[in-house]
This record gives sequence, structure tokens and C-alpha cells, in this order.
Amino acid sequence: MSAPLLAVSDVHVAYGKVEAVRSVSLDVGTSEIVTIVGANGAGKTTLLNAIIGILPLKGSVAFAAKDIGLLDIEDRVSLGLSLVPERRELFSTMTVEENLQLGAFRNAAATVQSFERVHALFPRLKERRTQLAGTLSGGEQQMLAMGRALMGQPKLLMLDEPSLGLAPRIVADIFKIIAELKSAGVSVLLVEQNAQAALQIADRAYVMELGEFILNGPAKDIAADQRVVASYLGFQHDDASAV
Ligand SMILES: Nc1ncnc2c1ncn2[C@@H]1O[C@H](COP(=O)(O)OP(=O)(O)OP(=O)(O)O)[C@@H](O)[C@H]1O
Ligand SMILES: [Mg+2]
Repeated sequence: MSAPLLAVSDVHVAYGKVEAVRSVSLDVGTSEIVTIVGANGAGKTTLLNAIIGILPLKGSVAFAAKDIGLLDIEDRVSLGLSLVPERRELFSTMTVEENLQLGAFRNAAATVQSFERVHALFPRLKERRTQLAGTLSGGEQQMLAMGRALMGQPKLLMLDEPSLGLAPRIVADIFKIIAELKSAGVSVLLVEQNAQAALQIADRAYVMELGEFILNGPAKDIAADQRVVASYLGFQHDDASAV
């Protein structure tokens, strides 16, 4: 088997003396969707932030067979790693098009092609290209955050809670697009509290509790695991909205 695109090995991340991520190992292959599910405070965001270089870590992180643990964020991004953060972090007083343009800052030559690709995935962003980002709906803002990350043509897109605060129908749209990314050859590392939706589109899954992975395997197996069903799949947003 060829080396995984992302290989995280025995990683620890601490805030001061408190370890929020403990001895975590994970890998993501080419054109693979891998999800991390876990409760609030499990350490999911902390792990993604450490992989992209916002937080320092102990242990090793390799991307495309290169050790990236000591690189700064920009160098990790230019290698093809990208993070769409939980808060989306758009420039609210700039237009949709300007926000997308910023995502291409490293890759000016490929910008036209990137715009076409992002517009094909998110026709809504094309329709609304002159609208200010701050006036978009929550779902459109999530699409813009993903679109901006894709403008840099990443090999691996890390998504932190893309469904947060969105209505079930919009969540379905977003998940459909994530599946399309896989078909287009982009790998995805997906962090989600909506475990049901995440496990449906993922190839493999890791379950995180109190900073550690307690379980991992094919997404189908994880979705059928009794502990996972009891802790994460018993009650979902979809059920709540159907009442
Ligand atoms: N800047 C910080 N300083 C100190 N502790 C922090 C900081 N950020 C997060 N933590 C703590 O680290 C732990 C993991 O937090 P993290 O945000 O990674 O969890 P999460 O799994 O992403 O949760 P959620 O699903 O709510 O987003 C929590 O106990 C949290 O309180
Ligand atoms: Mg989080």
C-alpha cells in the first residue's frame, strides 16, 4: 500500500499543562473521506488546529510523505493542506468573489480554473458573487468558506463542523458536496457532531473521547457499534426537526 496522504502519529496537544489531545494517531489516504466524531470538548478542533499549525504539537505529522510538524501554516497550505475552521472566518464586508479570490492568493496562475471549479460545485456562489459575505445565509457562508479553501486547490480539506447551525436540508446539500469532492480526488478529514450524517458519507471513522481515540474502523462498522449508537446516534437533529 502506498503511504497515506496525511499520517498523524502519537500526537499530543496541550493548553499550558492541560493535555487536550493525547497520543492520537490517524491517517487519511488519497480520495478518502475520514471522519472524527465525538462529544463537545473531546479535542477535535484542537487536533485539526495542531495539524494545520495553529497550535504546537508533540509527535509527528507527515503530509505527502513529508514531515510538516515544524512548518508554518502557510507552508502547510502551499503543500496542499487546508482547514475550514468552525467559525468560518469570512471577510464579512467583502463580496463573495473577493473572499474566493483571497483563497487563491498562492496560486494566481490557476485562479480562473479554480473559480470555474468552485462555481460548478457551488452554483449559489456564482449567483451571489457580488453580495457581501456578511449578508449570506448560514448555509451560503459555509459554502463560501469551503469554496475559499478549494480556491487553493488543496489535496486534503479539513472541515470543522460544516453542519453547525444549519437546517437539515442545507446539511444534506453540504454533505452531497463533500461526497463530490472525494470523486474529484480531494481527500477530506471531517469533524462532525452530526455523527449520523458524517458516518454515512465517510469511508473510515475515528471516535474521540476526552482527547483520545477510543475506536476506529470502516464507517459502516463504527455506525453499527453499540457504544457509538448509544452515545452518538441515539438522538439526531433530523429527528428533532421532525417532531
Ligand atoms: N484556548 C484554549 N485554552 C485552554 N483550553 C482550551 C482551549 N481551547 C480548547 N480548550 C479545551 O480543550 C478541550 C478540547 O476542546 P476542543 O475545542 O478541541 O473540543 P471539540 O471536540 O472541538 O469540541 P466541540 O465539539 O464543542 O467543538 C476542551 O476541554 C476545551 O475546554
Ligand atoms: Mg470543535
